[in-house]
Amino acid sequence: MVKSIVCELKQNSPVTEEYFILEFIWDHAPPKAGQFFMVKPLRSVVFLPRPFGIFEYNAEQKTVKFLIAKKGKGTEELFRLQTGEKVQLTGPLGNCFADFLPETGKAALVGGSAGVAPLAALVAEKPDYQFYFYAGFKKGFREKEQENAILGSALKAKKVVVTAEDGGNAINGFITDYIFEPESYDVIFGCGPLGMMNALKKKCAAKNVPCFLSMESRFACGVGACNGCTLHLASGMKRCCKDGPVFPAGEINFNE
Ligand code: FES
Repeated sequence: MVKSIVCELKQNSPVTEEYFILEFIWDHAPPKAGQFFMVKPLRSVVFLPRPFGIFEYNAEQKTVKFLIAKKGKGTEELFRLQTGEKVQLTGPLGNCFADFLPETGKAALVGGSAGVAPLAALVAEKPDYQFYFYAGFKKGFREKEQENAILGSALKAKKVVVTAEDGGNAINGFITDYIFEPESYDVIFGCGPLGMMNALKKKCAAKNVPCFLSMESRFACGVGACNGCTLHLASGMKRCCKDGPVFPAGEINFNE
């Protein structure tokens, strides 16, 4: 059940200049991979809360983590939060990847930038599943520990491929160029920048592979009440927050 709770920040862990991880105690409905929370510090000059997919949920410790990339005022504010500061969390919201995952099989998970986070949560949620993880970044990481912190549970996948557009520690290039045989997977999930997801959609369509993408939109309420996040899908208008955020790739129009 969706809750709106004021939580204290347990830990704020900077990973690189761009990424950081926020951890909260969450002793309420367990979130599933692909679902998200609306996050807003009580002491905030930003009007609207921000949506973040879960990166890690620890059922024993009752903690939830979010991997956040700094971009704009809202995330800068979150970056400066100190342990113990109060933050309003509303969630878990939206549908989840498991709604589209066959009971058994082989799945490729393709994440770009902070889009790796919800897919990493799926690896943790289904430890017996055969996952092949593809993670693409704009900038490579200087330290392997930084890359590992950002990949989180994705490191438990059967295979992990990491690319960066500027090389760094990773393979140089776009992550979608390293999925050589999409047809070898029963299903492919994607989450990340629109260009990456469009390339993934095309790659899957060419080989008739089921593909599901986690979409972003401008979220205001996050609970389906304001229609601010409406997406124009092949089957009609859908609210990204309530009907998604995970949709079949064939439904999504990338406005080319
Ligand atoms: S953000 Fe209000 S309906 Fe989706």
